[in-house]
Amino acid sequence: MVKMLQKSAIEPHGGKLINQIDDSREALDEAKNLQQLTISKWTISDLELIGIGGFSPLTGFMGEEDYTNVVNNMRLTDGEVWSIPITLPVTEREADQFALGEKIALVGEDQVIYGTLTVQEKYTYDKDLEAEKVYGTKEEAHPGVKKVYEKGNVYLGGPITLINRPDHGEFKDFYLDPSETRKLFADLGWKTIVGFQTRNPVHRAHEHIQKTALEAVDGLLLNPLVGETKSDDIPADVRMESYQVILKNYYPEDRVRLVIYPAAMRYAGPREAILHATVRKNYGCTHFIVGRDHAGVGDYYGTYDAQDLIEEVEEELGIGIFKFEHAFYCTVCENMASAKTCPHDKENHVHLSGTKVRELLRNGERPPKEFSRPEVADVLIKGMKQN
Ligand code: ADX
Repeated sequence: MVKMLQKSAIEPHGGKLINQIDDSREALDEAKNLQQLTISKWTISDLELIGIGGFSPLTGFMGEEDYTNVVNNMRLTDGEVWSIPITLPVTEREADQFALGEKIALVGEDQVIYGTLTVQEKYTYDKDLEAEKVYGTKEEAHPGVKKVYEKGNVYLGGPITLINRPDHGEFKDFYLDPSETRKLFADLGWKTIVGFQTRNPVHRAHEHIQKTALEAVDGLLLNPLVGETKSDDIPADVRMESYQVILKNYYPEDRVRLVIYPAAMRYAGPREAILHATVRKNYGCTHFIVGRDHAGVGDYYGTYDAQDLIEEVEEELGIGIFKFEHAFYCTVCENMASAKTCPHDKENHVHLSGTKVRELLRNGERPPKEFSRPEVADVLIKGMKQN
C-alpha cells in the first residue's frame, strides 16, 4: 500500500518552496496606483496558495503553454506533474483593459488589494476540452464543470505577488503556511506525516482510515479544505468545530495537528486527488490518504478511479499514497472494516447516504454511533439549526 517511508523532510514539488509574498507598505502603495481587476473568492484562494507556496512550483497564474500541457498531459511545460489548471479567468472586455507586460492590482469584491499580477499573456481556451479532460464530463450539473462554463473566456497568465491574505477570521489560529507546517513537523520531531484532505465532518470511516495510517507514521495533518464548496456541503465553520470536538475526545493530542487548507473545492475526482497530494507534499507531508471516490461528486467517478490515476504518478510525485478501500462499520465484526478485512454480507454493514445523514441531522437526530461520534453529531445538529 505504501511505496516508501521517507526518513527526512520531503522536498517541495519542483524542488523549491515558492514564496511570492510581499506584504510591505511599499508593495501596497505601489499596487494602489495600478489598474485594478476585481477577482472572485475562488481566484483569491488560488492567489493565496500560489503566494504562500502551497502550489509550488507555480509562481503565478498559468500561461498558455503550461495550461495546455496540464489539460492534455497532466504536466507543466518543464515536465513536472501537475493535474489541474490554475488560471485567472476574465471577460474579453476586462482583458482589453490591460496591456501585455502591465502590472495590475488584484482586488476582491470587498475592495481589498490581495495582490498584483504582471500580465505576461492573454489567451482564449477551449471550455469543452477543459471540462472533458480535467473533470471527465461536459455536464453542467457537475459543480466544477459549471464553473468552467460560467468563467470569462480569456485567461491572464503571469507571475503574482501576494500582498494581503484573505481574512480567515475564526480559523486564523489554524492557519499555517507550508514553510510553517514544515517547521512545526521538525519541531515535533515528526519524520513521517500523513496528510488528510476533507470537505466533510470526520465520520467513523474517516477516523478509521486516518488512525490506520497513523499506526504507520509519526503524525497526522488533518487538513480540511475551507475555501469555496458547493452549497449543500456542510459549512466550514461548523466542520471546524466538529474537528476540534473529535480531536479532543478521540485522538492523542501529540500525534495530530489541525491546519486549514484554504483552497476552493473543484470536485475533479482523480485529477483533484493528485493536486491534493501535491499541495500536501508542499506542506511537508510524506504521505497522503486517498480513500474511496476522493474529491468526487455524484456518480461522475468510479470508486477507485482517483487511486488508479494517482498510482500512475505516485513515484514521480514522491509522496507515499495510502489507498483505502471503502470503510464501514460491520455489526458482526463489531468493528470498522472494509471488503479487505470483513467477510460478512452487506446487510451487516452500517451504510448511510449523505442525504439520509443530512435529513437526520436536520430533524435533530444523531446518526448511529457506528457512523458518527455523538459529539460530532451534536455539533452538526446545532450547526444545521443555525444555518
Ligand atoms: S473529499 O471530497 O474531500 O475527498 P471526503 O471529505 O468525504 O471528500 O473524503 C475525505 C477522504 O476520505 C478522501 O480521501 C476519501 O476518499 C476518503 N473517504 C471518505 N469516506 C470514506 C469511506 N467510507 N471509506 C474509505 N475512504 C473514505
